[in-house]
Amino acid sequence: MQFPVFQFSYLGSGMTIGLDAVLHVIISHGMAIGAISFIVISEYLGLRKASQDWEAFARDFLKFTIIITTGIGAITGAGIWLITSALSPGGIGSMLRVFFWPWFIEWIVFTCEVICILFYYFTWSTWVGERKGKHISLGMVYVFLALCSALLITGILGFMLTSDGWPWAKSFWPAFLNPSYLPQLLLRIGISFSLGSLFSVAFLIFTRREGMFRIEALKLFGKAALISFSATAVFAWWYFSIVPSTFKTHAVFAVLTSRFSQQPEIFWYVNCAGAIVLFTFSLVSMKGSSTLAKILIIPALLVSMGFVGEFERIREFIRGPYLMPGYMYANQVLLNETPFFNKEGLLKNDPWFTMSSDNHGTAAQGAGLFARNCSVCHTIGGINDIAKKVDGRTVDGLFVILAHTHEMIPFMPPFSGTEDERRALAGFLYGLSKGTVKEHAPSRFAPAHGGGTHE
Ligand code: HEC
Repeated sequence: MQFPVFQFSYLGSGMTIGLDAVLHVIISHGMAIGAISFIVISEYLGLRKASQDWEAFARDFLKFTIIITTGIGAITGAGIWLITSALSPGGIGSMLRVFFWPWFIEWIVFTCEVICILFYYFTWSTWVGERKGKHISLGMVYVFLALCSALLITGILGFMLTSDGWPWAKSFWPAFLNPSYLPQLLLRIGISFSLGSLFSVAFLIFTRREGMFRIEALKLFGKAALISFSATAVFAWWYFSIVPSTFKTHAVFAVLTSRFSQQPEIFWYVNCAGAIVLFTFSLVSMKGSSTLAKILIIPALLVSMGFVGEFERIREFIRGPYLMPGYMYANQVLLNETPFFNKEGLLKNDPWFTMSSDNHGTAAQGAGLFARNCSVCHTIGGINDIAKKVDGRTVDGLFVILAHTHEMIPFMPPFSGTEDERRALAGFLYGLSKGTVKEHAPSRFAPAHGGGTHE
């Protein structure tokens, strides 16, 4: 089944999905798991120490957290579905066929999470006295459910990089419990508590809690941060040691892009500097220095979010040229479809292209071929602009390199299409680089004049 290609002009597909997904990860990991775990712990400390400060901190922090998680967290989560359905329908559709059950169960678990957290919130002032213990247990049930979500989704995310024997065996369990499953799950839990401890300190500092309590809480969250950062570092190392080296070699390039990839030391300098900020922050917090913690909290938050973005970027990037390794390329062409398209033609077999009445001429063909083959990673005039990438090459040169995209750059899929189509795309790309073709492809893929009915 073919779907129309939707091109998001300036940001491109990857960046559009990525921005939404990273925001979702920061909230779902850092708040829904991390911060709420610390809230439940704080509530417990309030009970055990008979401390109004801990109790009030937990209650106020929950109010803030619940608004962000049920608002932005849930919306960015649904956003991942909407965006991937538009930009990568073949990919998400195939994934859904393999992982229907985990996703279906996750949907139920997620609903339970929302009910549970709202219940936890609204019973805060009524489940008091003898019922306080029960209220804390309710918080623990929520944390357990949130961890179940991580447990369910990580199988799918791990599969996208280490699909293991799935392309041949097509069996569910090895695909779900793939080699990177466990290290990635632990890494994500480490990330959750790292971000959670940082959010807790930020809330503590910026809501001006009373002096003694502030130092006591700061010391505790500082210790939690140190443990979480260390665990995250260990699990990240374990995770990347599992990732096949063919993919791993592109990790530095994923972050630096061709702009800086000749100076890989930048990657290490920046990451080490980031790690130093985080560890310094956790140490000064552990010592109870609220002035230093206040100075470092914003940089620490930015660094930690940067690390999350970096991790997700690397994980998604290095699986190129594949969307599902061994089965589907990033541009949603199946590995075993390519020989067919090379022989019979890509556009001729694309109902979305053929049904559009104005898809005549080589420029239209070129735009169509670009859309199908390249637009998932390259834009026209935006990020990773194809016109800039092909600038300075001749038509014949382009015709030749199009047969070698996958050899030229290992994370680009091979071109799908006949020799004539390759020539059409070469002409189109050459025109783009010279500014003689300004054609924007999206309209080419909309059925002409609404719904495909020709007037
Ligand atoms: C899976 C993603 C992906 C797909 C699909 C893809 N590319 Fe690329 N391509 C990249 C990345 C990433 C780069 C390097 C970007 C940078 O410079 O940092 C690149 C670089 C290039 C370059 C510059 C290479 C050089 O060394 O000069 C050309 C030319 C190019 N792509 C053409 C294409 C064409 C044509 C298609 C479609 C037939 C295509 N790409 C499909 C990801 C992709």
